Amino acid sequence: MQEELERLEATALAELAQVETHPQLEEWRVRYLGKKSALTTVLRGLAALSPEERREFGGRANKLKATLQQKHTETEEALSLSSLSRGAAPIDVTLPGRSQPLGRLHPITQVITEICAVFARMGFQVIEGPEVERDYYNFQALNIPQDHAARDMFATLWVDSRDDGNARLLRTHTSPMQVRIMEQHKPPLRFVVPGRTYRYEATDATHDWMFQQVEGLAIDTDITLRDLKETLFEFAKSMFGREMGVRFRCDYFPFVEPGGEVAIECVACHGAGCRICSGTGWLEILGCGMVHPNVLAGCGIDPSVYSGFAFGMGVERITILRHGVDDIRHFYSGDFRFLRQF
Ligand code: FA5
Repeated sequence: MQEELERLEATALAELAQVETHPQLEEWRVRYLGKKSALTTVLRGLAALSPEERREFGGRANKLKATLQQKHTETEEALSLSSLSRGAAPIDVTLPGRSQPLGRLHPITQVITEICAVFARMGFQVIEGPEVERDYYNFQALNIPQDHAARDMFATLWVDSRDDGNARLLRTHTSPMQVRIMEQHKPPLRFVVPGRTYRYEATDATHDWMFQQVEGLAIDTDITLRDLKETLFEFAKSMFGREMGVRFRCDYFPFVEPGGEVAIECVACHGAGCRICSGTGWLEILGCGMVHPNVLAGCGIDPSVYSGFAFGMGVERITILRHGVDDIRHFYSGDFRFLRQF
């Protein structure tokens, strides 16, 4: 057995010295270290020997196995190195790395971040709220009781059909967050609330059934309509530049008094009239107003001491103006050719 092991070692090492390629090395490994190799047969045969012989030859056979494994590793490393230095390996270390495709933020997310940053600079905090909302917050606490005609302004997607203030709906605007904020925070307060809103509406170039709004709310002891106009004009100039035309007009919302709307000069036609602005030269971006005393009182804020303003802007409309997009439906079409441009 001793002689057999010595012969095996000599032939194995002699053959290894002849190996020049990785496939030859693999053949050598199978021959001398594989399951059917002579060494494995010797190791299996140890069981038939006496305990003394097993101790003696077992030790030698295992030592030989370790030696052959060590030589195999060394040869493998040497082959890899030499093939690299000969330039034979399929690895070209001078090749530039493969670029990984990078994701990017959706244009609407980018614009929401920008809007919130403008208001953060003016001292507003950013907060979010639920998309599945209760009738109470979406309508009743906003001075829109059941059967109020103003409910028609917000074609609603209902989640259940309870006919009390607990009925659930997909919020039609971010204004319910005005109430939630005033319930939870004491004035003075300044918040903006970005988020998705839903309406049961036919779609066209400037209307979608799901769109995002950013709500704004400021409450303090002496806030006036002038503060509202200043804040919104400053916002419009920051987003669209000092030269862009901004229009402020009266509008009606039950939860503000007085109410207004802001429109921006149409970027597509510069006021001449086109499909985007329905021929008017302007695109409405937000509704706003002074928070109605009923809403303040309903939230436990004394309207004889405090006043405030609120606004709700359409993020897709702002993005259309910002980037000259011709149809709101592109944003959620999932078309990469469109999205890659931002
Ligand atoms: C509102 O949603 C009020 N909550 C805004 C408000 C807040 C008024 C606070 C007063 C005080 P309105 O329905 O007009 O209002 O929507 C506000 C803005 O959302 C619009 O100016 C427009 O920019 C955008 N918008 C409305 N409907 C759609 C729609 N279907 N698709 C895309 N954008 C829309």
